[in-house]
Amino acid sequence: MPGQTVLSVEGLSVKFSHSDRPLTAVSEIDFELARGETLAIVGESGCGKSLTALALLGLIPTPGRIEGRAIRLEGRDILGLQGEAMRRLRGNRIAMIFQEPMTALNPVLTIGEQIVEAIREHEDVSSVDARKRAIGLLDRVRIPDPRRRFDDYPHRLSGGMRQRAMIAIALACSPAVLVADEPTTALDVTIQAQILELIDELKRETGTAVVLITHDLGVVAGYADRVLVMYAGRKVEERTTHDLLEAPLHPYTRGLIAARPRIGTRAGFRERLTEIPGIVPSLRDMPAGCRFAPRCPIATEACRLAPPPLIPVGAGGSVACLRIEDSRVSKPPADYSSAY
Ligand SMILES: Nc1ncnc2c1ncn2[C@@H]1O[C@H](COP(=O)(O)OP(=O)(O)OP(=O)(O)O)[C@@H](O)[C@H]1O
Ligand SMILES: [Mg+2]
Repeated sequence: MPGQTVLSVEGLSVKFSHSDRPLTAVSEIDFELARGETLAIVGESGCGKSLTALALLGLIPTPGRIEGRAIRLEGRDILGLQGEAMRRLRGNRIAMIFQEPMTALNPVLTIGEQIVEAIREHEDVSSVDARKRAIGLLDRVRIPDPRRRFDDYPHRLSGGMRQRAMIAIALACSPAVLVADEPTTALDVTIQAQILELIDELKRETGTAVVLITHDLGVVAGYADRVLVMYAGRKVEERTTHDLLEAPLHPYTRGLIAARPRIGTRAGFRERLTEIPGIVPSLRDMPAGCRFAPRCPIATEACRLAPPPLIPVGAGGSVACLRIEDSRVSKPPADYSSAY
């Protein structure tokens, strides 16, 4: 049934206690994901996208820890699930694909064996049936000649084919949620598009919901229904893709959109017209108020005093900015740098 919530994340935080003082890398993130929906998570490097993704699967490395009110997967709270209980869900009801498939694939097993393993870890099927299903999956992710490819080791495959194999493993048990962390960043542009199309097509066929982490706003425009923008570990804006790209409200989102690379006049030539000046604050030294205030062209004293609350905006969106009225009345400048 479309519209049904399959994942509901409430107040998710990720903390590290390396030293005397705990560092909060992800702060109280909330979002919901419906069946068959794609939610993109965007933000500059280091803002907590990967940690948010890993936390959903209970994969935060020690000394990190996950805190929050709930992570409800198909209605069941999985926050705090450990060991065997979490392993049973991982790869079964929630699965993940990574930027670099080689780190996730096992180099000493053939890709066919790895798919069979993924199936048999969660389902009681014979090895003959699992093999048939694995070949079917290789075919489904459009790996040519799947019967032969079944016996190939990962190093024999190209980057794009490896990514397809990883998708086959992730989808082996038809998970309710697929988390894709920059799944195409390491691939060339044509292959990137093919992989994104494949994920999108499989999502439409199976109803799997997708959390898609990306740096690329072109990818957001093409594949995401909604977008969650993170800055320094916090959610600063969440909107439908259409609303966000048409009329971004948070000054950080406006900066990201203005700073996106554009295709220049020469074929394949990409240029960044503007950058958001300044850097993301360090986890050890977070501003007390809005974390973007030190870089924000319209911040006031009030912005620096306390973290701004998330304010609901149209179509289920929200934005954490005290200056939202100013953002609403002024269209984002064509050249964001003029706002500084
Ligand atoms: N094991 C760790 N101990 C302490 N801090 C960590 C650890 N792992 C990650 N961090 C910090 O948490 C923050 C968020 O990291 P994360 O990998 O989620 O960022 P990201 O948004 O995925 O960045 P990128 O776009 O570069 O992949 C960063 O500041 C990072 O330095
Ligand atoms: Mg990352």
